[in-house]
Amino acid sequence: MTAHVDEAERTVSDALRAGRALLDPALRAAVGSLPESMQLIAGHHFGWRDEHGAPVDEDQGKAIRPTLVLLAGRGVGAEPEQVLPAAVAVELVHNFSLLHDDVMDGDLTRRHRPTAWRVFGSGPAILAGDALLTLAADVLTSSGHPAAMAGLKELNATVLDLVDGQSSDMSFERRTDVALPECLTMVGSKTGALLGCSGALGAFFGGADAERVERMRRFGHRLGLAFQLVDDVLGIWGDPAVTGKPVHSDLRNRKKSLPVVAALNSGTAAGRELAELYALPRELTDEDAARGARLVSDSGARDWSRAHIDTLQAEALHHLDAAVLAAEPAAELTALTHLLTQRQR
Ligand code: IPE
Ligand code: IPE
Ligand code: MG
Ligand code: MG
Repeated sequence: MTAHVDEAERTVSDALRAGRALLDPALRAAVGSLPESMQLIAGHHFGWRDEHGAPVDEDQGKAIRPTLVLLAGRGVGAEPEQVLPAAVAVELVHNFSLLHDDVMDGDLTRRHRPTAWRVFGSGPAILAGDALLTLAADVLTSSGHPAAMAGLKELNATVLDLVDGQSSDMSFERRTDVALPECLTMVGSKTGALLGCSGALGAFFGGADAERVERMRRFGHRLGLAFQLVDDVLGIWGDPAVTGKPVHSDLRNRKKSLPVVAALNSGTAAGRELAELYALPRELTDEDAARGARLVSDSGARDWSRAHIDTLQAEALHHLDAAVLAAEPAAELTALTHLLTQRQR
C-alpha cells in the first residue's frame, strides 16, 4: 500500500516538475515583456525576485493549472508546444486572481512569503494583477494557434465566472443565510471555472472534438471544487508551515467557506453556536477563530467535507475516464487528482 502511494506521489511530482519545466521559460519570457514597474511586483509574486528586484529562487506555486493543460494536450495526442500558450495563459490568470484575492482577503502571506500588497501596497498589487490578466489575453492572441480567438473567448468567459465567484465569496461575508447549494456554486465559479478551463483548453488546443473538450472541462471543474474544499479545510486545520498561507484567516474574516456553511446549516448545537460567534458585533480574535474551528468540527462539517471531497473526486475521475485520454497522461491526471484531494488528511 505504502509503495503504491509512494509511486503515485512520485508520478505526480514528476508530472508537476515536467509541467513547471515546460512552462517556466515561456512564462518568464511573457512576464519579461511587461513594463519594468510590473515586472518587479510580478517577479516578486512568482518567487523570482526579492522586493528590490534581485533574483531569488523562492516558492513559485504548484503550477497545477498549466500542468492540467499540458497533460490534457498530451492526452489527446498533441505536442507540448501546441498547447503551451494556453498553459501560460491559465497560469497568468490564476496569478492575476491571487494578487487581487490577497488584497480582498487582507491576507499577509502566500507561498511562505509576504503578499504583494503588503510589500508594494494595494494599488501596485492590483495593477500587477491587471497586467497579468492583460498579458494572458496577449499570449493567446499572439500564439499563432488557429484556435487562438476561440481560446480567448473561452478564457474571457472563465475570468467573468471567476470574478462572479469572488464577488459572491465577499458578499457571503456579510450574509447570515448562505445555503450549501449557493456556496457550491460560488466555489464552482471562483475555483472550478479556471481548472475546468485548463482541462478544456488543453484538449481544445490539442485538437480534440467538442465532446472530449467538454469532458475535460467537467473533470477540471469537479477537481477544482474538491481542491477548493481541501483548501478551505486547510484554512481551518492546516499547518501554515506546510501551506505557506495563514490558518484561521477565513474564520476571522467570517468567511462562509464550504465547511463553515455546512456547519451553519447542520441543525446542530455547534452550528448554532458558530452562528452566534459569527454574529458578534466586534472583530474576531485568535481565540474566537480557534473556538470556531472546534465548532465546525463538532457540527460534523469536517466529516462532511471529507465525504464530499471523495464524491467530487469520484465525479472528476468519471469525466476523465469518459474523455479517453492516452494511457500515460491519463494515469498522471488520476494520480494528480488523488494527491490534490488527499492533502487535508
Ligand atoms: C490557490 O491556488 C487558490 C485556490 C484556488 C485555493 P493554488 O494552491 O493552486 O496556488 P499556487 O499557485 O500553487 O500557489
Ligand atoms: C481562491 O480564493 C480563489 C481565487 C483566488 C480566485 P481563496 O481566498 O479561497 O484562496 P486562498 O486560500 O487565499 O489561496
Ligand atoms: Mg484568499
Ligand atoms: Mg478569497
